[in-house]
Amino acid sequence: MCALVDSWLGGLKKAPQMYTDRLSLRAMHAGDVSDIQYHVNTKAVCDNLSYTPHPYTMEMAENWMRNINCSMGNGSCCYWSVCDCATGEFTGSMGLSIFREQDGGEVHYWFGEKFWNKGYCTEAAKRILKYAFEDLKFHRLQVTHRKGNVGSRRVIEKCGFVFEGEFRDELKRFGVYENVIHYSMLANEFLKLNGAGRFN
Ligand SMILES: CC(C)(COP(=O)(O)OP(=O)(O)OC[C@H]1O[C@@H](n2cnc3c(N)ncnc32)[C@H](O)[C@@H]1OP(=O)(O)O)[C@@H](O)C(=O)NCCC(=O)NCCS
Repeated sequence: MCALVDSWLGGLKKAPQMYTDRLSLRAMHAGDVSDIQYHVNTKAVCDNLSYTPHPYTMEMAENWMRNINCSMGNGSCCYWSVCDCATGEFTGSMGLSIFREQDGGEVHYWFGEKFWNKGYCTEAAKRILKYAFEDLKFHRLQVTHRKGNVGSRRVIEKCGFVFEGEFRDELKRFGVYENVIHYSMLANEFLKLNGAGRFN
């Protein structure tokens, strides 16, 4: 039973509704908490995230949504629930941290395990890139993945991000130090890729 009430979550409504061929990126609401908890609590999803604890409880999911609501309220991030356009089924989450003073930000994502390897994340990430560079007028967008996260690496490559470097032992996850791989895209690189049809 979710303890959140939509009337407390006005910040979440700032996420603009966006579509791709197969997906709807819509504002999160309290009714998404159980889907978020279920999918993030899956070991395969959780293991690949950088800071999320496992097991991941309803209370943690609710607190996460409250924090995102506050951060969206002050404009420091924007998060979407991603749903299958045909069925309305919740598939995952896309997010943007917004570094306003730098005209930049960072993209974040996870999808439920049963939706992996269908191209969903790449499709949604490309839409987020268009939003970041065309609507928010970003100069730079960054993204990282843990070294062993091959699925995330492929998403980043397919979007056309530029490799920046491997940061040694940047993350301590479940007691183990891990290297983190950093990438970015600048506005002029986005324009070139967009002109070549990469984000159609
Ligand atoms: C990373 C993640 C979001 C990718 O979502 P997705 O919808 O499966 O992504 P896509 O289908 O768009 O692309 C995945 C690509 O990785 C490839 N891939 C996945 N696992 C792979 C593996 N073990 N070895 C080789 N390639 C692999 C897929 O084949 C696909 O590439 P392709 O289109 O060239 O065939 C998803 O795996 C996930 O939620 N993981 C857990 C959370 C996470 O890692 N979040 C990101 C933190 S940086």
